[in-house]
Amino acid sequence: MTLTREQAMEFAEDKPSNPSDNETFGSISQRRYSRRGVLKGALMTGTALAIAGLSRPGQASMDARFAFDEISHGVDETHHVAPGYDADILLRWGDALFPDSPAFDPANQTEASQLRQFGYNNDFIGMIPISDDRAVLCVNHEYTNEELMFPGLGDQEKKDFADMTEALVKVEMAAHGGTVVEVTRDANGKWKADTNGKMNRRITASTPMRLSGPAAGHARVQTKADPNGTTVLGTINNCAGGITPWGTYLMAEENFNGYFWGKDALDAHPEAAALKRYGAPGQWYAWGKFDTRFDITKEPNEVNRFGWVVEVDVMDPTSTPVKRTALGRFKHEGAETIVNKDGRLVVYMGDDQRFDYLYKFVTKGTVNMQDRAANKDLLDEGTLYVAKFDDQGGVTWMPLIHGQGPLTAENGFKDQGDVLISTRLAADALGATKMDRPEDVQANPKTGHVYVMLTNNSKRKADQVDGPNPRAENSFGQIVELTPPDMDHAATMAKWSLLVVCGDPAKPDVNAQWNSQTTENGWFASPDNCTVDPDGRLWISTDQGSAWAKSGTADGIWALETEGALRGTGKMFFRVPIGAEMCGPCFSEDGATLFVAVQHPASDGVKNYTGFERESSFEDPATRWPDFKDGMPPRPSVVMITKQGGGKIGV
Ligand code: FEO
Ligand code: CA
Ligand code: CA
Repeated sequence: MTLTREQAMEFAEDKPSNPSDNETFGSISQRRYSRRGVLKGALMTGTALAIAGLSRPGQASMDARFAFDEISHGVDETHHVAPGYDADILLRWGDALFPDSPAFDPANQTEASQLRQFGYNNDFIGMIPISDDRAVLCVNHEYTNEELMFPGLGDQEKKDFADMTEALVKVEMAAHGGTVVEVTRDANGKWKADTNGKMNRRITASTPMRLSGPAAGHARVQTKADPNGTTVLGTINNCAGGITPWGTYLMAEENFNGYFWGKDALDAHPEAAALKRYGAPGQWYAWGKFDTRFDITKEPNEVNRFGWVVEVDVMDPTSTPVKRTALGRFKHEGAETIVNKDGRLVVYMGDDQRFDYLYKFVTKGTVNMQDRAANKDLLDEGTLYVAKFDDQGGVTWMPLIHGQGPLTAENGFKDQGDVLISTRLAADALGATKMDRPEDVQANPKTGHVYVMLTNNSKRKADQVDGPNPRAENSFGQIVELTPPDMDHAATMAKWSLLVVCGDPAKPDVNAQWNSQTTENGWFASPDNCTVDPDGRLWISTDQGSAWAKSGTADGIWALETEGALRGTGKMFFRVPIGAEMCGPCFSEDGATLFVAVQHPASDGVKNYTGFERESSFEDPATRWPDFKDGMPPRPSVVMITKQGGGKIGV
């Protein structure tokens, strides 16, 4: 198969691994949706008119919660931010994190140097304040692109990894995981990494971690190297994540399946059906060639030790990260938290694959904001729920509890460990609603609303459309808003509505739904991550993958109105360079800095980039962002955005 790494991931997600006959909800919700058809038609007409020139950004000023001049859709070799703002590079792949970090030397990388440097493909960004001008920054490093990282390789997946060496694999493993680094702010409002920070650490695909919760020690997580099933080496494909109220860092393991080898022997594996449901083994990297734990024929249970949410106590750089199995095992996009009104913690989580599900976890105990240590094992006990949407605008949260309903030994679930290790199968059995790739899910503490990013699903058929997934061959995604009753996030019911249906509202066949005040630059496609700023306003980042040419714009950050007459109005704030996706939006506590993660510049869809029109490589990338120096490859980087002269972003 001749695909780039990104295309391989998209392709994998394109192959729905959910064979259950759960209703796609179309049969019931299409009825609800069709009743809205008239309204939808009216909305469409209004929007098309607005796009045709009737819309004036100023018209909306009465209720607008965002004050900045919008930038334009487009794509070129660099980033763009709204006028009056600075966008400065804070941390690049290879930057120093410690006093002894070697200088970045892309032609001669080693595992030892990468272990002391900022990793590759920054995704989630979280910030834990220490004081007004000092904080701990937590950044996930999702995956690696060997064709852009190393000289002379090209895309190794196409060559059966012929040129990958063990030394290069070790660099890749060291470039995965996360970075914890202290940052300080100067008098001009600009942050910089403090390489002397006591909390600084790298977490990688080899860092020892503890398994905790109901699946820890289970027979299905025991391996030759770890017969007790309690200690795992490393975390992989850490996409988005979260920061708990007590200041720990949650790293979500997403496409873990792609790292394992043994495709040809899958049917002989004792858990072949479960592995297939997770798309494992994917064999997207060379790791299984050199490290037997990434080969299911040699270590059949290692794969069950990935796909979890990892909690890191960043205040103790020697602490062992913990994989919290109570939160379930799936392709976790993120793990955003909110303290419920009764004091329990609720974690919202998407399983990012076409036709997979939306989850939440509710702790048994309550958060203790007076005693940080009291929350140490809060994430080990509680209830995991999966969402079922109905045709009355309602959501039922169904608990995944062993012994309840179909989750019994007769159906293959011997205990709660089985339910959690095979979360997807348990959710299938409960009849959860198949969604259009649930990504980041975030609650707004000011309003109680919960925003669910559904990024796209090109495989949904016309007879599978439903309320929250209203389009067939959905290339552009949508955002669903949940409203828990009386702001009770632990409740087993909620209401749902569509906030926006993404894509170009000027194209009738796209069937997008935006507020008519949205300009020709204000709409977006494929919402992926989001964040709520200190004023309760929603900001969206997008990842269109290699399909960005369908919208004609690179990914970026859009502000999105959620309340009042302007609800559903988007406004473009930042744009990434060619081939990148936008990740990690994160505000400083005072709202004066927006941190964003530019992931894999020069990689996605560059064959469609006019004037370049070929795949990128280390020697020949579509952009050399952000350094633009001969011989320097493109570098995934965290960018900090501040307002010139200071003050809150977008105010
Ligand atoms: Fe790693 Fe679902 O994005
Ligand atoms: Ca993502
Ligand atoms: Ca988020």
